[in-house]
Amino acid sequence: MEINKYPIELLMRTTGYDVSKYDDSFLLSTLQKRIFETNSKSMENYFVFLEQNSLERAELIESLRISYSEFFRNSLTFAVLERIIVPSIVMKRDKTKHKDVRIWSVACAGGQEAYSLAILLEEISNGDKAQGYRIFATDQSETQIHDAVNGQFPSASLNNVSLKRLKERFTKHNDMYAIKPELKENMAFSVFDLFSEKMTCPPESIYGDFDLIFCANLLFYYKDDYRKSILHKMRNSLAVGGYLITGEVERDILLRYKYREVYPYSAIFQV
Ligand SMILES: C[S@@+](CC[C@H](N)C(=O)[O-])C[C@H]1O[C@@H](n2cnc3c(N)ncnc32)[C@H](O)[C@@H]1O
Repeated sequence: MEINKYPIELLMRTTGYDVSKYDDSFLLSTLQKRIFETNSKSMENYFVFLEQNSLERAELIESLRISYSEFFRNSLTFAVLERIIVPSIVMKRDKTKHKDVRIWSVACAGGQEAYSLAILLEEISNGDKAQGYRIFATDQSETQIHDAVNGQFPSASLNNVSLKRLKERFTKHNDMYAIKPELKENMAFSVFDLFSEKMTCPPESIYGDFDLIFCANLLFYYKDDYRKSILHKMRNSLAVGGYLITGEVERDILLRYKYREVYPYSAIFQV
C-alpha cells in the first residue's frame, strides 16, 4: 500500500515532528496499528480523527518512538560477545597504552543494553580494576536517558537475566529491580541525536575509538539514506578492528551494504 502523503504533512505541521525520515513500511504498519486501536473504519477516517484529536497525535508519535528493550536481548549476539568478542577485546586492550575497553550504546532506551554490557565486562574482568572499561550510553529521548540513569526495571524486562546476575547486580524494591550503584561507576549516560550535525560521538567520550558500538533495533525505522548516514557516523567512531552490532532483525540491512558478519547470524559486524 502506498503511504498517503497527507498524514506526513499533517503530522509535521501539527506536531513539528519529522516523520519523513521513517521507512515507509514501518510508518504504514504503525498507522495500521493506530487505525485498529482507534476503531477507525478506514485510513481516511483515521486521518480526519487525527487532525481533530491532539491526544491521538501524541499517541501516534509515541508509537513511532518505540523504546522497547530488554536485558541481554538477542541471545546469540550476547553469547558470542561473552565467549569470544569481549574476552578478545580485553586481551587486545591489555597490550596497549589505553587499556580501557570503550563501548558506545547509541540508542540505549532505558539502559537495558548498556547495563547488560556492564555486567559482561565486570564478569570478564573478574573485578580486576586495572582492566577498566567505559560505556557511553546515549539516546535521543530525555525521558529514556532519565530512566536509564535511574536504573529501575520491572521483572518483565529481566527474563534473560540469570538468578545469579539478578542477585549480584540488582536490589529488589517491591516489584522493581534497581541496578546496584557500583555498576554505574564506569558508565556515562547522555542525550544524543544520531542526526546531530554538530557531534559525531558523545562529547563525554572526547574521542571515538570504540571497540564496540551497539546500534540495535533502530536502523529499521529509517529510510535508506538515513540508515547510511547513521552507519557512516558509526564507522568513523570505531577503533581499528572494532565491532558494530545491530539487532538480529537488522542483519539483512548490513549484509546488503556489504558489511562482514563475524559469526553467522550473530549481528556482529566488522568494517
Ligand atoms: C527499540 S529501542 C532500542 C533499544 C536497544 N538498543 C535495544 O536494542 O533493545 C530504539 C531507541 O532508539 C532511539 N532513537 C530513535 N531514533 C534515534 C536517533 N535519531 N538518535 C538517537 N536515538 C534514537 C529511541 O529513542 C529508542 O529509545
